[in-house]
Amino acid sequence: MSRIAYINGRYVPMREATVHVEDRGYQFADGVYEVCEVRGGRLIDERRHLDRLERSLGELRIRMPLSRAVLGVILREVVARNRVGYGIVYLQITRGVAKRDHAFPAGAIAPSLVVTARRLDKARNEALATRGIAVISVPENRWGRVDIKTIGLLPNVLARQAAIDQGARDAWFVDEAGFVTEASSANAWIVTDTGKLVTRHADHAILHGITRGVVLDAVKEQNIAVEQRAFTLEEAYGAREAFITSASQIVLPVISINGHLIGNGKPGPVGIALREVFHRYAEAG
Ligand code: PDD
Repeated sequence: MSRIAYINGRYVPMREATVHVEDRGYQFADGVYEVCEVRGGRLIDERRHLDRLERSLGELRIRMPLSRAVLGVILREVVARNRVGYGIVYLQITRGVAKRDHAFPAGAIAPSLVVTARRLDKARNEALATRGIAVISVPENRWGRVDIKTIGLLPNVLARQAAIDQGARDAWFVDEAGFVTEASSANAWIVTDTGKLVTRHADHAILHGITRGVVLDAVKEQNIAVEQRAFTLEEAYGAREAFITSASQIVLPVISINGHLIGNGKPGPVGIALREVFHRYAEAG
């Protein structure tokens, strides 16, 4: 079965799913994206993802090309046409197609909208979560507004590849003051040696993860002490446990950082429990 993509008003087979060479996303990374989990064929936390999408678009002064309701129909249609039960749906909106010039194009241009969906291997993801992952750290070298979910991801790409080159799975960015910001495509968490759950406060230095928000809702109800504040790599080395959160991984335990084993070097109970309860707190639609 050929995968189907939605491109600017049409559902087309992947091999025909092309965008114009002067799309500003291609030339300037002048656009934003969202990734939503699909589970049981349903979109997880669509409302929050679309809220964040609208915020990202607003920050970049890109027009929302369609109403939220129509966008929701398209997301579902792409999921259905690709028969995704468990996987992700990806949506990208760029400023549109115009003669290459750094400044915004004069006059109104239509933003480009692309939606794709694909299945993920559930058994493989569960096995990964059971094992946990190794991460390395890399210097934070991204721009100052990574709270906007732009498609400009080169530092994230290089960080992830550096991790893989070193036999790890992911990388945590560490800022000049020594504080962890986040992972290459996920938010970073630790459970301190005194049992407090810590994740960085949602400033301009991290993406305000939807999964992060749902986990914060879950811990409130589970009566787990949580602090939203910056933490250093050293504090993480001494933590009982660590994990990352994202729409595609939900809660994924981290068992070593730069070769330092975290806790006993196995996924910890808080991360495992949060992974298990997550979907009770997420919205499925
Ligand atoms: N990434 N931080 C970064 C840099 C991210 O790219 C992501 C998501 C997150 C977690 O956000 P959320 O919980 O809303 O997925 C944090 C997606 C999954 C991606 O790029 O594939």
